[in-house]
Amino acid sequence: MTIPFEQIPGPQMPKNLFGQINSVRAFSDNLIKSFREAFAEHGDVVAMQPLGEKMVLFRHPDHIHEALVTKSKSLKKSREYTDPKRGLARFVGTGILTANGDFWRRQRKQVSPAFHTQRITAYADAMVTAGDKMLSHWPVKGELDIAKEMMHVTLDIISGTISSVDLTADADRIDAAMDAINAYNGTFSVMPTWIPTPMELRVRQAVRDLDDVVYNMIAEWRKHGEDDGSLLSMLMLAEDEDGNHMTDKQIRDESVTLILAGHETTANALNWTFKLLSENPDAEAKLHEELDRVLQGRLPELADLQELPYTDMVVKESLRLYPPAWGVSREAVEDVEIGDYLVPKGALVSLNFFEMHHDGRWWDEPNAFRPERWSPENAENINKHAYMPFGGGPRVCVGNAFAQMEANLLLATIAQRYSLTLTPGQVVIPDARITMYPRDGLPMIVEKRDVVVESHVNQAEAIPV
Ligand code: HEM
Repeated sequence: MTIPFEQIPGPQMPKNLFGQINSVRAFSDNLIKSFREAFAEHGDVVAMQPLGEKMVLFRHPDHIHEALVTKSKSLKKSREYTDPKRGLARFVGTGILTANGDFWRRQRKQVSPAFHTQRITAYADAMVTAGDKMLSHWPVKGELDIAKEMMHVTLDIISGTISSVDLTADADRIDAAMDAINAYNGTFSVMPTWIPTPMELRVRQAVRDLDDVVYNMIAEWRKHGEDDGSLLSMLMLAEDEDGNHMTDKQIRDESVTLILAGHETTANALNWTFKLLSENPDAEAKLHEELDRVLQGRLPELADLQELPYTDMVVKESLRLYPPAWGVSREAVEDVEIGDYLVPKGALVSLNFFEMHHDGRWWDEPNAFRPERWSPENAENINKHAYMPFGGGPRVCVGNAFAQMEANLLLATIAQRYSLTLTPGQVVIPDARITMYPRDGLPMIVEKRDVVVESHVNQAEAIPV
């Protein structure tokens, strides 16, 4: 029996416009909490009509699988991504993350080879080196905002892999642009974009800065024009079936997309991992034991990862409890049935991985941090459809393998040398915008462990503290 949109349970919206604006603002103020309450009250499928826009929320693995995999053709990336004025496209243009249809298919085909295992393994050393370099600036003991540290180290890695041009001098501009993107996407506004509000001016500056950095990178690459192993050279040299190269605007859009998609997510994965390890000292002790035993004071290398199963289990469990891409949205291109529910053409579909990852129907003790659930014996019993930190179907994260390698290598590099503890009394509040991040940063006490590790950073480069 098909249930039409009008009969799907959900919250009633106020009748007048101001009431509706207030209620949308209140809902988007704390998305994680708002979604949780909506599901708790109405069940697995919730219909809403904020400001007249039809929206259906899902959290059940079967529904999410149907939307992303079996019925992916009936759902496209939603306006939140594609709208050139208010969506992510304002910043990243029409790149692989925001495009739809044939254009997306062509771009995905051209970008994917850059992420094949053979190609990305070459980046492993750069990942460890970036971690090693960061640690050379850390005090023996002291407080740091780990959220900032993780954002910088992952930006360092992605910019180093995208281009052989050193972007260190642009790190602050890229950082500010990323902050603007998050602030913009997290702020509900009914203001037209031609009004130069402080937020609008910030957004325009961010777009100018991203253009500047990336077009400059393209110009630098053209000076030699050869495959230097970077993602940029892959993009520059890629040809479609007709032998055409991407235009500079396409290269710009794909590069900004990869910078954006490729660093904040991994930074947040590590933020949550360190928070969880601080709250779970037994798990941290096991991790340290594994790193000390396997690495014996050497910096980790790609080949070590297969000898570090516990490190991998920690990352997997952290991605379950705090999936940085906590949910994704789509727009129905035609009437489509998901489960028994009819999603009308044009309606938005919100797929909530966070709720699915915390659901007691699929996970024992869903809120507990238990890396052991990912051990080879236990992992067999896991409902794989209930775990989607990298999404699924044709639009699954193209950087999935890159991200897992990076998170594992950085965790190994950092935890081998340092123990990180939450500042006493601190409550870390997850906030959800495009990604889920610690709302007020992540101040932690870092303390050097009593192990000798052969750093590769030249002592002259290390800043004495
Ligand atoms: C822990 C880190 C990461 C997480 C949790 C993550 C998660 C995701 C998710 C859930 C999607 C699907 C979005 C959707 O269906 O709407 C996605 C897409 C994507 N990710 Fe990642 N990602 C991570 C790291 C990376 C990295 C390192 C890169 C690149 C270097 C990357 C590049 C992309 C791109 C380009 C897409 C769009 C793919 C498409 O639409 O065809 N991601 N990511």
